[in-house]
Amino acid sequence: MNRDIICIFYSRTGHTERTMREIAAALDCELVEVRDRVRRGGAVGWLRCGLDAMRKRTRAITRLQMQRQLWEYKLVILGTPVWAGRCSSVMRGLLKRRGYEMADVAYVITHRSEEPYREIFDQMDQYLQKPRVADVSLRPGSTGYIFWRDQFLKACADFAGVALRDVEEALAAEANREAAASKRPERESAGGAEAE
Ligand SMILES: Cc1cc2nc3c(=O)[nH]c(=O)nc-3n(C[C@H](O)[C@H](O)[C@H](O)COP(=O)(O)O)c2cc1C
Repeated sequence: MNRDIICIFYSRTGHTERTMREIAAALDCELVEVRDRVRRGGAVGWLRCGLDAMRKRTRAITRLQMQRQLWEYKLVILGTPVWAGRCSSVMRGLLKRRGYEMADVAYVITHRSEEPYREIFDQMDQYLQKPRVADVSLRPGSTGYIFWRDQFLKACADFAGVALRDVEEALAAEANREAAASKRPERESAGGAEAE
């Protein structure tokens, strides 16, 4: 595993999470989710998300379950959906509170419309000590998705000086590893039961 890179994402409905899983698998690095304690599901949640994004309002975020301190990673890759033409207020909350701890940062934004929303990257940069090293604006399911994702992956791998894995192969390997890991405790507990 590449210990110098971490992917941190917020995802309300799974699109950004899927993309960040692909990126983390290709770079063979940690993947960590950030949330806040606000109910963001359903129609009311949707409205709340839009209003929070427009007002740039942020709330306390959950603790990040990372293996190292944030400042120890050479590259932090942040993934967020676009809300009302801005970065999600959850990601803004992370940047506001901990952006100054991040050495070098790359951004992934996902959105539904054709617009690239590149101004969001500059808005996110305001919370960092130095500007981003790479960025990508992705519309899940679009024709250019794989091309732009792979361009971004190459930029991140070059920056961090690591080798890239094939996304599909890496995801399959992760799935196998998780399946094996989920079986292991069963066997261990079965063994324990026999011993008693
Ligand atoms: C409150 C809200 C506002 C949104 N605003 C935009 C927008 O301005 N432009 C856009 O293209 N998509 C917008 N979307 C769609 C999401 O950005 C898009 O579906 C994204 O990929 C969802 O990511 P997720 O599944 O990780 O939450 C919005 C979604 C929500 C919930």
